[in-house]
Amino acid sequence: SQIAILGVPIDLGAGRRGVDMGPSAIRYAGLSRRLGELGYQVVDFGNLTVPMVETTPPPPPDSRLRYLEPIADMCGRLARQVADIVQQGMLPLILGGDHSLTIGSASGSARQRRLGLIWIDAHADFNDEHTTPSGNIHGMPLAVLTGRGHPTLTGFAGRIPAFDPAHVVLIAVRDLDPLEREALRASPITVFTMHEIDRCGMATVMERALAIATTGTEGFHLSFDLDVVDPREAPGVGTPVSSGISARESHLAMELIAESGALRSLDVVEVNPILDERNATAQLAVDLVLSALGKRIL
Ligand code: ARG
Ligand code: MN
Ligand code: MN
Ligand code: MN
Repeated sequence: SQIAILGVPIDLGAGRRGVDMGPSAIRYAGLSRRLGELGYQVVDFGNLTVPMVETTPPPPPDSRLRYLEPIADMCGRLARQVADIVQQGMLPLILGGDHSLTIGSASGSARQRRLGLIWIDAHADFNDEHTTPSGNIHGMPLAVLTGRGHPTLTGFAGRIPAFDPAHVVLIAVRDLDPLEREALRASPITVFTMHEIDRCGMATVMERALAIATTGTEGFHLSFDLDVVDPREAPGVGTPVSSGISARESHLAMELIAESGALRSLDVVEVNPILDERNATAQLAVDLVLSALGKRIL
């Protein structure tokens, strides 16, 4: 089968610069070549054209939705291109960039089909303009995709919500803002925090997660935020949170995703090369993508 790579070098949704270089770093780590070695036909569509901080009017200092207009525009174009890729029978692999891009990528992938959503992240990204402490839109995509957020962001799948929260699973969360936490507790989204991973193990958690994302759906979108991995193994991320999952646990999660046969699209986001050590985080991102797409040790 065919994989379509698309980079989204956006960092307007993050509070810190640098994730705009993520797509390059992940490509330099050998993504295309290694997918080819795994037996895939790979088409790299290059990068989506996105605005940068230097050429975009700054948001007001008290903004609760920083860079809303350029981010909404980016997500609209990204959703369209991802929907096109799906229509052509290819599996979209989106490289970030900050996590706001998933509003576009996941919506585009879900436009012509009902998908589950597996969100692997140290954060829940479940803020809206009323709960956000930062105004950074990369803290909001999961809320938007499940129907809660600014009306210029919620409609890119052609239906609201883009994802039925009953088929959405959050994995390895360990850093919630106070009001975000209340919203998440009130939502039907299934949350496996670090506690459940410690307690039951990644294999059991993934087994349950996959059942929720695949039962009654046509497969699922995977959104993988590299900050879910412990910062000792993935130092190149903009918003590191200590006590994360190991690289091994991450691989196990990806291998079980591959085994499910239900992965329809994925994004890997928040790689920050400025803070990385000799591209280790981008290399890990490539390794994890390969595991998610079927690479086996033996
Ligand atoms: N919860 C914080 C916020 O809303 C941090 C979000 C971090 N998100 C991310 N995709 N790295 O500002
Ligand atoms: Mn995160
Ligand atoms: Mn259902
Ligand atoms: Mn995130």
